Amino acid sequence: MRTIVSDAAIHWGQVAKEVADRVVRPLATKYDRLQEYPWEIQKELAAAGLFGVWIPKAYGGHGAGIVALCKVVEELSRACPGVGVMYAVNALGSFPMIIAGTEAQKERFLPPIAKGEKLIAFCLSEKFAGSDAGGMRTRAIKEGDDWVIRGEKKWTTNGGAADLYTVFAVTDPESKSRRISAFMVEKGMPGFSIGKIEDKMGIRAVPVVETHFNGVRVGDSHLLGGKAGMGFVHSMQTLDWARPGVAAQAVGLAQGALDYALLYATKRNQFGAPISSFQMIQEMLADMSAKVDAARWLVYAAASAVDEGDSHVTKLAAECKYFATEVAMEVSTKAVQIFGGYGYMRDYPIEKFMRDAKITQIYEGANQIQKLVIARNLIKEAQHLDHLMKYIPTEVHCDYPA
Ligand code: CAA
Repeated sequence: MRTIVSDAAIHWGQVAKEVADRVVRPLATKYDRLQEYPWEIQKELAAAGLFGVWIPKAYGGHGAGIVALCKVVEELSRACPGVGVMYAVNALGSFPMIIAGTEAQKERFLPPIAKGEKLIAFCLSEKFAGSDAGGMRTRAIKEGDDWVIRGEKKWTTNGGAADLYTVFAVTDPESKSRRISAFMVEKGMPGFSIGKIEDKMGIRAVPVVETHFNGVRVGDSHLLGGKAGMGFVHSMQTLDWARPGVAAQAVGLAQGALDYALLYATKRNQFGAPISSFQMIQEMLADMSAKVDAARWLVYAAASAVDEGDSHVTKLAAECKYFATEVAMEVSTKAVQIFGGYGYMRDYPIEKFMRDAKITQIYEGANQIQKLVIARNLIKEAQHLDHLMKYIPTEVHCDYPA
């Protein structure tokens, strides 16, 4: 275990578990009902130092890495998956800065995020550019020394609560592969506003909004990396780093649902015995447990690949995001089944897990996109299998090379 999960990751997981047990779980229903940003929880996470986990030490963080981030997200999500993403989305928003920011930008923007004093959001998706992220229409045009940003972003998680926004915009519409650049937009800048606030099925503790950029002016100091054209590549690298975090949210969610289902199965009596004594319930519990553990270790493997700079990170990140979020949906649905009619009722804690699970299969790349990324990378790697060709009869495959 320790080869993948460092002492620092275990430590930050324990810190998160303490906050989750003391503060997050008792407030989970309240914020699900209110659909308001849970500032009282955010303050506890900041006081515990949790916003510095993924940020390098040089910029005020703990430099504990992505496995540690995943351990924290998992523990928070076990108590409330909405709080899990409310926290994790700050990593998503700040990864482009960590990956590609200039020294001056990192020194300016990262320390307040690490302290939990400023929150950050990630503005990539648009109404007409979801899975096709590169098809965005938001434009940033150079006027004198400034860049002027015009457009609208959709599904900005943390929007409104956040002070900083990493915004992707088209800077060179003629270019095929260097069309897009990323900018830091600060709350309060003229021309920046929050549009529609979404009313969601799940993850109701975190706001998801439209963000509008109506002639927002920024200088080169706010152009990520100080250079235009690398925005799409940086957004993809960011998603490689962030998808294990969504997968960790799914693992925590599935574990939280399993915890309640297991407890309930041992206490609920039918036909004169606890329902956990019935083989059909045992089969469900065993299936849920095996899948949660498999998902968990795939998440740690992908996150440690990010920490180690492994070249296979894109495929692993997509695999863990796909697998863990499918597990979260399946396990939370089975947990509701084990609770029976009570599970369907809102005064029991279990239906929330099922509602929260659905979005994990959709955001940070729908699972169909994850499978596309996995397959593309598998096919790229297929040449490593050429040495096995001698075991495949060639006569039935007329297109094989002689
Ligand atoms: N790392 C580095 N570079 C990468 C890369 C990666 N993982 N993936 C692609 N690139 C590079 C390619 O090498 C290529 O570069 P060149 O032009 O120099 O060759 C360039 O990026 C374009 O790549 P593709 O041709 O593969 O791009 P595509 O248009 O076919 O799209 C895609 C690929 C995988 C479908 C991508 O659009 C994608 O991931 N879509 C899903 C978007 C997504 O996940 N959105 C989630 C938003 S965030 C969110 O949901 C968060 C929230 O609210 C909580």
